[in-house]
Amino acid sequence: MDTKVLSSGIKYLTLPESYIRPESERPRLSEVLACEDVPVIDLGCEDRAQIVQQIGDACANFGFFQVINHGVSLEGVEKMIGVASDFFRLPVEEKLKVYSDDPSKTMRLSTSFNLHKEKVHNWRDYLRLHCYPLDQYVPEWPSNPPPFKEAVSNYCAEVRELGFRLQELISESLGLEKNYIKKALGEQGQHMAVNYYPPCPEPELTYGLPGHTDPNALTILLQDSQVAGLQVLRNGKWLAVDPHPNAFVINIGDQLQALSNGRYKSVWHRAVVNAEKARMSVASFLCPNDDALISPATQDEVGPIYRDFTYGEYYKKFWSRNLDQEHCLELFKN
Ligand code: OGA
Ligand code: NI
Repeated sequence: MDTKVLSSGIKYLTLPESYIRPESERPRLSEVLACEDVPVIDLGCEDRAQIVQQIGDACANFGFFQVINHGVSLEGVEKMIGVASDFFRLPVEEKLKVYSDDPSKTMRLSTSFNLHKEKVHNWRDYLRLHCYPLDQYVPEWPSNPPPFKEAVSNYCAEVRELGFRLQELISESLGLEKNYIKKALGEQGQHMAVNYYPPCPEPELTYGLPGHTDPNALTILLQDSQVAGLQVLRNGKWLAVDPHPNAFVINIGDQLQALSNGRYKSVWHRAVVNAEKARMSVASFLCPNDDALISPATQDEVGPIYRDFTYGEYYKKFWSRNLDQEHCLELFKN
């Protein structure tokens, strides 16, 4: 392959060999179930106790849910999508100015997942940004397209508020004081992955992102409103989470699984690609402070499932591995 990223304007008629999964690891798209029942929770509902109940059920049974009337402005979302699509439409030379395959960089355009650790590549380009504190990181963000910095900063601030609201509801659903999670995680970092999955000549043979769990605390995903691709694992089967109008997809990350002592699940999910259309998604990750000590918030008869660890330690471990291995939390079990 002659360029570093997939979004280079080159049309591929067959899938390059380095993207082809061995037979046993392929997505088997015809076996994926349509998912009608990923919970959609209305955060505008006046009955807070009902919202808390719905969130608790969704976190325990699915690890995934969608929210509507979430308080993030439609204008903010539309501007975010606008600058993200304009970024990926830039000439490849322009994009390559911010290219890096070093995961320790706080701002980079990259491709696949972790080029130096993986055996088979993934049909994805992504722009990864650190987003908190904004005044520290915005200066290093792309300045092309010109409205990028402003649109993304506004979006990040709105999404952060939503994340904190969800953490309050999740705390309450665990029977904890409203501010418990926010206090336990310290001053939280915020990262963003703007994922771009170009049309793929042979979607049956590869992934946009293979099955993984998110290493952070909470993920707020803005899915492409037109093109499906997100799937979650439930009872051993992959389910498609089709886009719901004006909703965000929320999932519990590894840190909330540990903090809830395994009551809430950081569920396996993946992104598949399709032959006709490019797909975009914007994932916002709330991450505990590096020094935050992650330990169970609740006392259960089973005792603590995981040993205490700092997020800094966990995150290093996560990026030292490939994506589609065992759950990273398994390595922290007592
Ligand atoms: C992620 C992720 C899913 C998607 O970025 O961690 O799971 O639909 N993305 O792009
Ligand atoms: Ni993910």
